[in-house]
Amino acid sequence: MKNIAIFASGGGSNARKIIEHFQESAIGRVVLVVSNKKDAGVLDIAREHNIPTYILQRPLFYETKEILPVLQDHAVDLIVLAGFLWLVPGYLVQAFPRKIVNIHPALLPQFGGKGMYGGHVHAAVKAAGVNVSGITIHFANEHYDEGDIIFQTSCSLNETDTPETIARKVLALEHEHYPRVIEGMLRGV
Ligand code: GRF
Repeated sequence: MKNIAIFASGGGSNARKIIEHFQESAIGRVVLVVSNKKDAGVLDIAREHNIPTYILQRPLFYETKEILPVLQDHAVDLIVLAGFLWLVPGYLVQAFPRKIVNIHPALLPQFGGKGMYGGHVHAAVKAAGVNVSGITIHFANEHYDEGDIIFQTSCSLNETDTPETIARKVLALEHEHYPRVIEGMLRGV
């Protein structure tokens, strides 16, 4: 049984799908939900499922390694970023080599990097007039949206699509694929 920690900053729809996916699993379980926002919706989802939560404070997260003993206390094997908007500090990447995974709501390397999150991504995709978008699941490092790509899948777009309809199509792909890809990683871990 492998232990998963989810890091998230927002509503947590991906976190919910991941928690539910592993509820009856013999492969993995979500043992901790970490957020940088004390009022993030993802924390309510964690509490709903009796999963411990931990709130990050910026100076501590970047100037100390106080998160490491917290992760060790829960014997975390894999860190899953699901809408986590802060950069991952180098010490955490080093402590969890190829064991931090992120999902980005576009087909990296396009439409990635600093500031490219949530609606900004889909607005840029729409503005670029491309006829495809999708998701990228990749190993996270200390730079935004870099790291080896693990999985990508796409959805087709047409001129009637808006940033909102693109977001809906992409989020559906995230919910469909992220839990399964994580399970595949745990099997291989
Ligand atoms: C998703 O769009 C994901 O691609 C991005 O952050 C968003 C998280 O949404 N990394 P939610 O909080 O899981 O609903």
